[in-house]
Amino acid sequence: MANPPLSVVVLAAGEGKRMRSRTPKVLHTVAGKSMLGHVLDAARALEPAAIHVVHGHGGEAVQSAFAEAQIHWAHQAEQLGTGHAVAQAMPAIPDDHQVLVLCADVPLIRPRTLKALVARAAGGVSLLTVELADPSGYGRILRDAEGQVTGIVEEKDASDAERAISEVNAGILCLPAGPLRGWLASLDAGNAQGEYYLTDCIARARADAMTVTPLACADPWEVQGVNDRLQLAAVERACQQRQAESLMREQGLGLADPARFDLRGELTVGRDCFIDVDVIIEGRVVLGDGVHIGPFTRLRDCEIAADSRVLGHCEIEDSRIGERCQIGPFARLRPGTTLAEAAKVGNFVETKKTHVGPGSKINHLSYIGDTHMGAKVNIGAGTITCNYDGQQKHRTELGDGVFVGSNTALVAPIVIGEGVTIGAGTTLREDVPAETLAVDGSRPKQIKGWRAKHRQD
Ligand code: UD1
Ligand code: CA
Repeated sequence: MANPPLSVVVLAAGEGKRMRSRTPKVLHTVAGKSMLGHVLDAARALEPAAIHVVHGHGGEAVQSAFAEAQIHWAHQAEQLGTGHAVAQAMPAIPDDHQVLVLCADVPLIRPRTLKALVARAAGGVSLLTVELADPSGYGRILRDAEGQVTGIVEEKDASDAERAISEVNAGILCLPAGPLRGWLASLDAGNAQGEYYLTDCIARARADAMTVTPLACADPWEVQGVNDRLQLAAVERACQQRQAESLMREQGLGLADPARFDLRGELTVGRDCFIDVDVIIEGRVVLGDGVHIGPFTRLRDCEIAADSRVLGHCEIEDSRIGERCQIGPFARLRPGTTLAEAAKVGNFVETKKTHVGPGSKINHLSYIGDTHMGAKVNIGAGTITCNYDGQQKHRTELGDGVFVGSNTALVAPIVIGEGVTIGAGTTLREDVPAETLAVDGSRPKQIKGWRAKHRQD
């Protein structure tokens, strides 16, 4: 029999007081993506008929963070409990649907676990459970003599014997919409927290002679909830470890230490890439075959082609690097930097909106912005493109084979022709035609026999 259509309800109305934050809890990030974003991605992988998000606290910020997404928003003005929260979404859900309830603060849940849970419900009720060494804080699973699940008791309402149960409710359930509507309407708040508990629907289902099928979740991280900053940090590490393992196993990435690697976005790697310790990858990063990334480096939204090396302590953002390039240590490539093959950018160099031609070098202590460099250009230490006049940015062009001596200022806009040599310590304010030597004509003054007054010896 085909499974009934699926509606997902994501509970995201809680305040998250224990985070002590101005940001709504579900917008706090794990691996660079909000917790609600993770849960919505897992929900989308099931291709449900609809996704409903119940929001309350920080509702506007939450809604505007997902403005483009196909989401039905249900507002829960007062947080009266998880049962009350699900009830807010029910008017938009047809009776013949299955309802999968997810919590927005349980971000590491895997789509395959959810698929198994939905399949197990098969039009009835299923719930995800987990065995915990320390079950405190969770609802405990009650079973009868035959081992059938009969209900869930919240910790605050549990007897001592019930508290000793280590099998807990993960907070993720799948229920049939028609009966669920009735069960929710019958809930009362006569419990320790004065809340309408979704978990009471399990006993209601049993009273209606419906089977309740539990699914044990083997990986406790999948159902780990985030209530405070400590749990957020723990979930972050678990997520990072998961990502590192999958990159090493499935893409053959070499990591010096998977515990000192942070991916906050998407990383695609070729064969034999290696990443040293304490590297942060953000946004979308693509590495070609044989790329090495040195320690203490941050890459954001960039592509680095085959056999290029990034040495330690670099910052590279929104840049494209060709094959066989070398960057760093201590280089900062700002947005709009492109390096053709075999280019070099060395220590204490900053680039911005600049193309470095094939085989060209900026080896030390320079700022090169709004510049196009041809092939085999050599930039000496301490070269500055003076690209900003206080109002506008101006461009610099350096033809093929230009040699720029150390401590040169290039006042833009300026065009330096092919093969030009610029002497050290020159300030250029005008274009220089091809194959020309440009040097600063002024000679330093020398005053013989002069001695500074403060000198004692
Ligand atoms: C809930 C379960 C408990 C389970 C645990 C797993 C109930 C009564 N208890 O407890 O059995 O072991 O999750 O983590 O369901 N929310 C709303 N509106 C509300 C109340 C909550 O949207 O009025 C949302 C919260 O934002 C959160 C989720 O529902 O995303 C769970 O609520 P929370 O208060 O954290 O439930 P627990 O007490 O942890
Ligand atoms: Ca609670």
